[in-house]
Amino acid sequence: MSTDFSKGAAWMDGKITPVSEAKISVLDWGFTRSDCTYDVASVRNGAFFRLNDYLERFQQSLAKVRISVPQKTEEMRDIVHSIVGRSGLRDSYVAMVACRGVPLVPGTRDPRQCGNHFFAWCIPYVHVIKPEIAARGAHLFVPRDVRRIPPDSVDSTAKNYHWGDMTKGLFEALDAGFDTAMLLDHRGNVTEGPGFNVFSLKGNCVRTPDTGVLEGITRRTVLELCGELGLETEVRPVSLSEFMESDEVFTSSTGGGVAPVTRINERVFSNDAPGPATRRISETYLSWFDRPEHRQPVTYA
Ligand SMILES: Cc1ncc(COP(=O)(O)O)c(C=O)c1O
Repeated sequence: MSTDFSKGAAWMDGKITPVSEAKISVLDWGFTRSDCTYDVASVRNGAFFRLNDYLERFQQSLAKVRISVPQKTEEMRDIVHSIVGRSGLRDSYVAMVACRGVPLVPGTRDPRQCGNHFFAWCIPYVHVIKPEIAARGAHLFVPRDVRRIPPDSVDSTAKNYHWGDMTKGLFEALDAGFDTAMLLDHRGNVTEGPGFNVFSLKGNCVRTPDTGVLEGITRRTVLELCGELGLETEVRPVSLSEFMESDEVFTSSTGGGVAPVTRINERVFSNDAPGPATRRISETYLSWFDRPEHRQPVTYA
């Protein structure tokens, strides 16, 4: 009987299994302390997009959180190619994870005494903002009682599972009838949302916050392509009041690309419909998937 990989595949301890069979120990600090770092790349139409950039960011995250795994970049690249190839998924959300691991000295409180380990998994492609929501424009809520974890407490540039602030914000947003949340920092500046960066377009200028955020690969792609489209870009602190003065607002994420935002709290943007510049940026983003320098085709069995 052949194994069913249609819901995804995982690599763990040298073996590829259906994703549902990949498990970690209840003693792993990755679970008990959210002590891990990860990255997520995507496969669209049978090819990875900017995989080298995701692998590079992952290496930087590993160094920042001081997790050291035996697999180097080349092997990680082979592993993610092999799981997607095995899964047969032409469009996939591909996660690489490194955990602090299980204490090697039972009961230790010393993070150096844990067995750091790496695994990877892939599942069918995920849209952080569902296509039907992106089509009408997402409605974002700025939670009143939650602020983004400060970057001097948890480094937002090392992709992490410290999602207490995001989850609390999501509950507030969903309870208030919105699609998702956008969090402020403790100075009242805009940061990001659960799984996406945010952008404000005013006139000919596209702005995105500089600190307290993950430096998204999609964000980087947007900043690069804006240059080609003749739009100015600014990466700097953006207050909520300045953000609310935008002509257009959009999000960016590996899970779904560029998604228009038409409402934040009671404020309505671009006549409650996706704005023309956002549509142009989104279309250009999708066209970049065909650029040979960004495409790494997967070999399917
Ligand atoms: C907190 C956070 N911000 C931003 C992003 C977007 O980053 P990228 O474009 O690399 O997917 C993500 C992606 O999951 C995220 O988790």
